[in-house]
Formats: sequence, C-alpha cells, structure tokens
Amino acid sequence: MDYAIKTENLVKVYTGKKKSAGKPVNALVDLNLEVKVGDIYGFIGPNGAGKTTTIKSLMGLIRPTSGKAFIMGKPAGSVEAKQLVGYLSEVAYYYPFMEVGKLLDFYCSFYEIPRSQRKSKIEETLALVRLSDKINAKMSELSKGMMQRFGIAQAIIAKPPLLILDELTSGLDPIAQKEVKDIVLDLKKQGQTIFFSSHMMTEVENICDQIGIIYSGVMLKSAPLDAFLKEESGDFSKIVFEEASDSVLAKFKEKKIDTEKIRAGVYSAVVPDKDLEDFIDMLRAEKCRVSEVNPRRYSLEDAFFQLIKESEKK
Ligand SMILES: Nc1ncnc2c1ncn2[C@@H]1O[C@H](COP(=O)(O)OP(=O)(O)O)[C@@H](O)[C@H]1O
Ligand SMILES: [Mg+2]
Repeated sequence: MDYAIKTENLVKVYTGKKKSAGKPVNALVDLNLEVKVGDIYGFIGPNGAGKTTTIKSLMGLIRPTSGKAFIMGKPAGSVEAKQLVGYLSEVAYYYPFMEVGKLLDFYCSFYEIPRSQRKSKIEETLALVRLSDKINAKMSELSKGMMQRFGIAQAIIAKPPLLILDELTSGLDPIAQKEVKDIVLDLKKQGQTIFFSSHMMTEVENICDQIGIIYSGVMLKSAPLDAFLKEESGDFSKIVFEEASDSVLAKFKEKKIDTEKIRAGVYSAVVPDKDLEDFIDMLRAEKCRVSEVNPRRYSLEDAFFQLIKESEKK
C-alpha cells in the first residue's frame, strides 16, 4: 500500500514552560496515522486534541519526542518530503499591502518555478480557487473566505501531490465553507491527496473519504467515513408512528424503549433491528399508522460523542 502520510507511534511531549506552566503536556500519544494516496482525509477532534502538533510534526516544524513520520515514504521534515507537500497553516498571515497576483509570484519564486511559467501558473491557480478577479486586489481587501482560498492557492501553486491544510474551514460562514469544500473536491478529481484538520465535524463530514478522530492526543478511530458511521450507529432502526394511544406508549415503556413526541399523536422510537418486526406488528395491532422506518444513522458529531463515551468507559 502506498501511503501519502504514515506515522508510527508518534509521541510529542511539550516540556516548555510557556504554555504548560512548567508541567509537561502529552500532546500526542503513540499516534499511528495512515493516509492513502488519492484520499481526502479529515483529521477531526476538539480544540487542543493534538491536530496542529501532528501537522507540525509532519511538516518538520517541530520535532516529535519519539516515533516516526513519513511523507510518501520520505522522512517527515526532510527536503524531499517538504517538496511533496503544500501546506496551509492554522494561522496564516499575509502582508496586507501586497497584491494577490504579486504575492503568488513571490511563492512561485520561493518554489523556484521558472519565470516563463509563472503567469500561466498564477492564472490557472487563481481560477481553481475562484479568485481570478482578485489578481490585482490587495490582500487586505480579501474577505476571510477569500483569504482561506488564497491560502489554498499558495499551497497548490507548485502542484505538490499532497496537501496538508490545518483547520480548513474554521471561522468561515456556510457559503465560504462550501466554496472551500468544492475546491477540495475539484483538487481530488485532479488526483491530489488532501489531509486536513478541523474541530468542526458538521462542517466537513460530507467531503471525507476517510476520517481520523483524535482526542487528547490519542487517535480514537481511523476509518472510512461510511463504515465508521455505520459501526457507531449500530443495528437500530427508527420508527415513526401516528395515532398513538397511551397503551402503545406504555408498551414501549415496558420494553424500556424511549419514545419521542414529534407532534400531537405522532411519535418516534429507536428500536434494535432484531425486535423491529415485533414492534411493527404490535403497532399495527394497536391500529397505529407506521409512517416511517429507517436505519438509525448517526451524524459524524453524534458518532464522535458516542466514541468518546465508549473510550471513557474503558
Ligand atoms: N508550544 C507548546 N507548548 C506547550 N504546549 C503546547 C504547545 N503547543 C501546543 N500545546 C498543547 O498541546 C496540546 C495539543 O495542541 P494542538 O496540537 O495545538 O491541538 P489542536 O490543533 O488539535 O487544537 C494542547 O494541550 C496544547 O495546549
Ligand atoms: Mg490546531
């Protein structure tokens, strides 16, 4: 298997006095990460989970306490590895008086893109991130969403095979989020591997092939998104039934199944699949109309909380 990113038991303990007031912080605990070539991988977890620490280790910006990290098989932090990655940092700062096109030209020179190719490269890249009309605008004139798209532009200008984007959609309004996600999907179509972090699960779940959930420096789960949601959702179905009498509700209560009132006479209940037929038979016998039966499917956020609950039980 070709991995775009692979880490082996990555550990980071911050011992500096500044943030941790003298106490060491275990930011990463034996983190194993595998990102397949061609995937969009969402690295998800709350603030302080260790996402930026992982990313900085992958970029060679900090040195892990122990463990190994590789970018396309090259040791993270090596010149060869750095050449394979386009990076957007969590807090990007751009010189406000610089023009968009000129700043991209500066990045082109940084990446040693020949002068003769720069104009077309810049135009092509700005088109991809939907900023063509801003080529002469000053950085200070860009909205937050445009700024983030510019961040993607500087990351992709040298056409690296892997993108690492820290907090891809944070702080963006829903329209700007969608624009960024559409760009990411376009890039995937072009064969790019994309690894991004986010602390907002609901913002990103619909674009990920694979997700990794990190919590307190521990990778709780790494799996294809569908499989993960299915697994956490378990074998349950949601029934919606109408014209419910007190005796029907009492029968659910007897079986220790919660019912939720949707509106007058209309209720829902989540039942184990193995008992589904029995519940439907009972509802019909009680002259209730069953208006909906669907497999229960968690959102990524629901699944995340479920996973945390499970991990805290252990
Ligand atoms: N330079 C640092 N010194 C000490 N502690 C740090 C430093 N950077 C991050 N941390 C701590 O490491 C943990 C992980 O932080 P971080 O990787 O930034 O999380 P995330 O990006 O998921 O929000 C947090 O507890 C954070 O406070
Ligand atoms: Mg972070």
